[in-house]
Amino acid sequence: MKIYLDTANLDQIREASELGIINGVTTNPSLVAKEGVNGIADTKAHFAKICELMDGNISVEVIATDMEGMIAEAHELISIDPRIVVKAPATRTGLKVIHRLSDQGIKTNCTLVFSVLQALAAMKAGATYVSPFVGRLEDKGVDGLGVIAQMVQMKKNYEFETEILCASVRTQNHIQRCIELGVDIVTCPYEFVLTFYDHPQTEDGLKKFLMDYHA
Ligand code: E4P
Repeated sequence: MKIYLDTANLDQIREASELGIINGVTTNPSLVAKEGVNGIADTKAHFAKICELMDGNISVEVIATDMEGMIAEAHELISIDPRIVVKAPATRTGLKVIHRLSDQGIKTNCTLVFSVLQALAAMKAGATYVSPFVGRLEDKGVDGLGVIAQMVQMKKNYEFETEILCASVRTQNHIQRCIELGVDIVTCPYEFVLTFYDHPQTEDGLKKFLMDYHA
């Protein structure tokens, strides 16, 4: 399973990259805004810095909502670095954009996906990644992991190549269930990446080993 970091924070990306367990980064306009990045030039420079800090790809969402605007923005984004994956929402225009970009060999991530049918549409349109939002589904009382399980089954049944990228992760259980389901990628907030290696028995065991050694 690939692990992506769900952040636009440079320090978090630098630190997590050093762990050697991060395969990519996902951002969204809210995460970018949180970093206080202002204006087109600054935003582009920020994405370029993210690319410098890690080896994998980075999903960046288009802001335009019209087809031509989204396509133009997509081309601007990949001119910053070819590892940028263009994120477009699972809307009618978003799907058309994904279809067009996929024909041009440009990698896309269909975002804000909340149903199996949206995932089906994104896969058929040629999305490289499809991002179901597990946490936001649960916020509405929907069994988000159940929806993701159906997507995994659909991908298997019809041999789609699109990778399922579980987003909006809020608990460790989300990650553990994704492992069991065989989800391709999970994008995690930084705090969760830190909990991957944290275990009280490791800490206690290490203390005891060192005590015994010094004694
Ligand atoms: C990443 O691609 C998504 O935009 C992100 O995981 C959304 O997370 P949130 O629901 O916690 O905002």
